[in-house]
Amino acid sequence: MVFKGRIRKLFCLLFIFNVFVITINNYFGVNLSAQNRDKEYEKFHPGELWLDNNGTHINAHGGGILFHDGYYYWFGEHKSEHTSSALVGVKCYKSKDLYNWTDSGVALEVVKNDTLSPITKGCTIERPKVIYNKMNNQFVMFFHLELKGKGYSAANVGIAVSKNAQGPYEFIKNLRPNAGKWPMNMTEEQRLSSIKPGNFDKWWTPDWMEAIKGGMFVRRDFEGGQMSRDMSLFVDDDGTAYHIYSSEDNLTLHLAELTDDYLDYTGKYIRMFPGGHNEAPALFKRKDIYYLITSGCTGWAPNEARLAVAESIWGPWKQVGNPCVGEDKELTFNSQSTFVLPVEGKKDAFIFMGDRWNPQKHIDGRYIWLPITFEKDKPLIKWHNEWVLK
Ligand code: DGJ
Repeated sequence: MVFKGRIRKLFCLLFIFNVFVITINNYFGVNLSAQNRDKEYEKFHPGELWLDNNGTHINAHGGGILFHDGYYYWFGEHKSEHTSSALVGVKCYKSKDLYNWTDSGVALEVVKNDTLSPITKGCTIERPKVIYNKMNNQFVMFFHLELKGKGYSAANVGIAVSKNAQGPYEFIKNLRPNAGKWPMNMTEEQRLSSIKPGNFDKWWTPDWMEAIKGGMFVRRDFEGGQMSRDMSLFVDDDGTAYHIYSSEDNLTLHLAELTDDYLDYTGKYIRMFPGGHNEAPALFKRKDIYYLITSGCTGWAPNEARLAVAESIWGPWKQVGNPCVGEDKELTFNSQSTFVLPVEGKKDAFIFMGDRWNPQKHIDGRYIWLPITFEKDKPLIKWHNEWVLK
């Protein structure tokens, strides 16, 4: 009898505790799943919970968008509560108007029954981007891949394909780009230099930085391929596709041309801003001018965005300062770039897409989508609590 009484007490306590947790969650608006959505969105609300058709906060971080046959497809990292590791894979959401998104499931699933697979559950998959190849009617996904248990040391790109925009995607390969190829803008003297990382006891000294600018890490990684971390894809008007990625231990960006099927590298690539420490590249084009928004390298913490401009994709590229204006411009409105979306059918409408990461609760990362305006061809990003497409 005494025993039964204790069990009843325990259940009562559990029940009260549950009610308490649910109330707190709802009060602070942090319940990320299955909230009721009684009406459609008609505006963007940067930084707020963004519920999909099921009333669940969209789970597509570090994302990118593909427009195909009248629909936008948003691909991004599925994140869990306590880890940023890939326990599920790449999620896809579908929309006609960019405000309201339907959960289209997992586009690329991690492998659950083979610990040897490069995309085994628990690996790191970041910043997936998808492009469409007209030539063979195939969708191609690139993503930053880190192997399970190896931190950020693999610095690989992963490639997957599908015949359907929303997937499922089939994993094809992972690699470090451009093995055995020199960047087009590295001089003969830099290629032949014998300065090696082993010559330095300390990093970040002026001499070491000079050696980095001179391509020391490109030479180090020449045979095995160049490191590839934060990344994006860009398809130019002539159909040529490019992969842009943070290379050389995140110190230098590389921009590499892809083969016609978008599954390989032609071997043509350049280094951008050697030693400049740029991450989170988002490349776009307007009126024959190429623009690039990047961030600095401060982990999950936000920093000041950087804008670069060029008349040719192969450069020269010039960094021209921070495109953000107004309060919190120094922290990119507490976000980090991931993609710039040209809005279909609207002249000069571009959306800056950023992530407000939450390393304490990864799944609660928020999306900062803001309109890009142009002042004499210079892109500007201003904060809006809410806004609509014009
Ligand atoms: C910053 C990168 O931009 C993110 O994609 C992620 O790799 C974090 N660093 C990890 O700290």
